[in-house]
Amino acid sequence: MERREFIQKSGVACLGIIVGGGLLSACTKVYYAQYVVEGSLIKVAKSEFSDRSAVVIRDHGLPAPIYVVKDGEVYTAVLMLCTHLGCEITPFGQELHCPCHGSEFSNTGQVLAGPAENPLKKFKVETKNDFIIIT
Ligand code: FES
Repeated sequence: MERREFIQKSGVACLGIIVGGGLLSACTKVYYAQYVVEGSLIKVAKSEFSDRSAVVIRDHGLPAPIYVVKDGEVYTAVLMLCTHLGCEITPFGQELHCPCHGSEFSNTGQVLAGPAENPLKKFKVETKNDFIIIT
């Protein structure tokens, strides 16, 4: 490959990475919420949802992050661990997708596409004053 051809192809590849990276980040916006652990409870301020409908809690004491979605005044928290073979799933738009074998879940943990057959583990969520409490 000649120098000129290499530079032209490299430029196209870089443009693809920039464009692809922009699209990728637009598809997978993840906000890691601030939280407090009190015994077996996780407290998250409602203000963490002020300009977003979902947050992720990543804590070393959990087998996988927790995805918390807000729908009106209803909060749902699910473990981001695929029920097929246990891979960590990732947010993808309004859904959660497994990178291992392609299972898809709703943002409240229901199976949309297999091979997973069971919904994601759900946590109990209560609201108290300015906080949501996950147990
Ligand atoms: S581990 Fe998620 S689809 Fe297999």
